[in-house]
Parts: sequence; C-alpha cells; structure tokens
Amino acid sequence: MSTKGKIVAGCMAPHPPHLVYGENPPQNEPKSECGWESVRWAYERLRQSLEDIDYDVLLVHSPHWRTQIGTHFLGCPTFKSKSVDPIFPHLFRFNYDMKVDVDLARAIHDKAKSKNMLVKMMENPDFRVDYGTIVSLHMTNPAWDKPVIGISSVGRAAYFSMDVMQEEMMKLGEATREAIEESGKKCVLLASHSLSHRHFIEEPEIPEDMSAEHIYHHGQYLWDMKMIDLMKKGDTQTILDVMTDFTEQTISETDGGGMMWMLSAMGMPTYPAKIHGYGTVIGTGNVVAEWRAP
Ligand SMILES: [Fe+2]
Repeated sequence: MSTKGKIVAGCMAPHPPHLVYGENPPQNEPKSECGWESVRWAYERLRQSLEDIDYDVLLVHSPHWRTQIGTHFLGCPTFKSKSVDPIFPHLFRFNYDMKVDVDLARAIHDKAKSKNMLVKMMENPDFRVDYGTIVSLHMTNPAWDKPVIGISSVGRAAYFSMDVMQEEMMKLGEATREAIEESGKKCVLLASHSLSHRHFIEEPEIPEDMSAEHIYHHGQYLWDMKMIDLMKKGDTQTILDVMTDFTEQTISETDGGGMMWMLSAMGMPTYPAKIHGYGTVIGTGNVVAEWRAP
C-alpha cells in the first residue's frame, strides 16, 4: 500500500463484564434486566462517533492478558472459544469469534523487537482470549466486523516500578505508530481499563440492582475527576506526571500500561479528548473517552 497509515482515534474503553451482561448480546449466556446505563450509553456515544470514521482495524491493550516475560500479540487469523470471567462467571460467559490482523500484529511485533523490546506472537490457536480484550472490543464494535489486534500487558509496574512500565509503554506506542504508518491502514486504539479501581466485595442479590451502585470513595472519585479534567484539557504531560501517584492511590488498572501505550502511539496528544461518559461499576470509576486525531 502506498498511502501512509494512521491512528484515527484512541479511546479509553473500560472492560467491566457487567457492561456486556447489561447489554444482553446473543453471545453472552447470562441475561440481565438492565444495568450500568451511564457507562453503556457512553459506549453508545463512542460507537456513534466512530461510525463517522472509516477505519480498518481495532487494536486493544488489555491488563487482563498479563504476560510476565515480554509483550505478546494475538498471532492466529482467528480465535474462537468461550470466555468465562473468573470473578463473575454468573455474569459473563461469552462465545467469541474474532478475526485478527496478523500482518499488522507481526509488523508491530517486529518494530518493537527492533527497539530491543521482549516480544512474542501468540500462535496457539486454542489460546483463550481474556475478558478485558473481549469486553472492550464488544462494547466498541458489537458487530465484530473489523479485524482486531490484541496486545498483552507486562507486569512491569508490579515487578519493577511505574517508571519502568511507562518507559516500555512509550516504546511500544512508538512501535505501534510506526508499524501502522507503514501498513497504510487506518486504526482505532483501545486502552482497555477503568480509572479508579477500588470495588465492593459484596454483590447485591440482583447484580443489576442499581440502587446498590455508587461511588466507592470520595478520594477515588476526586482522582477520577482530576484525570478526566486533564483529558478534557488535552494536558497529556500532566497525566504522565501524575500517573504514578494516581495509580498507587486508586489501585488503578493504569498499572497495566494501556493508557500510556495509547497516548504514546498517538504522539502525546495536546488536543482535548471527548468524554462520552463516566460511571461506576461495583464502585470502580469508568470513563469512555476518545481522542480523535486531527
Ligand atoms: Fe479489570
């Protein structure tokens, strides 16, 4: 392909399985009455927004595909199985069937390798894709009519430090951008995680009983509002500066690196993100946000 590829949008795309449960798609076995509408409708607005863009591939970075040695990429043309959430098997038993853009996945893998990153293609066709990857992809594109790329998260923040993790995610983001540009493809990136992540330890009798759903802790909420304010201002540098404190104080899934990867791949945007909505799921803070590349 002769035209230069491009990242057309980057999104915060959180993955509580409750969202899929609340939507009742045919792929999910458990059925709900409703639930978590503020976040589900935020996803609805993201979907409407992405309808305006002509894009080829969805890339997702998930904290629930944790690889201890190096970054892994889904590396078979299709993955088909049933994903059962280990904590919420009564809410999420999802039959997935995804098509992978293996060429582009390999191109990102090769770019990252050339930057001395430890990388590997996941080429076991029986590999079971994690629910974080699946929920973010389903909520963004329930038609499943676009090829995807799944990227694992390395436990650097837990085993070394946030600084080491950030440095690696900067490199992975650059590798992602360079490979996409060379591919000629238009891509949407998904950082699959919530913001603050303290959650309830007891479930109400009816999981979708929204009279039980609320913010867990005011301090956590303040952090979420701070981060969202920075996104709205396009102040990526401050997001970077406070990321370590934010992650430690809200035990956030930002420790998986998805947001840093996405922002790095987008060249650290200084334009505002569009906030499609925010809401809690078992007390965790979830924002659906979109940086639309100019
Ligand atoms: Fe999670």
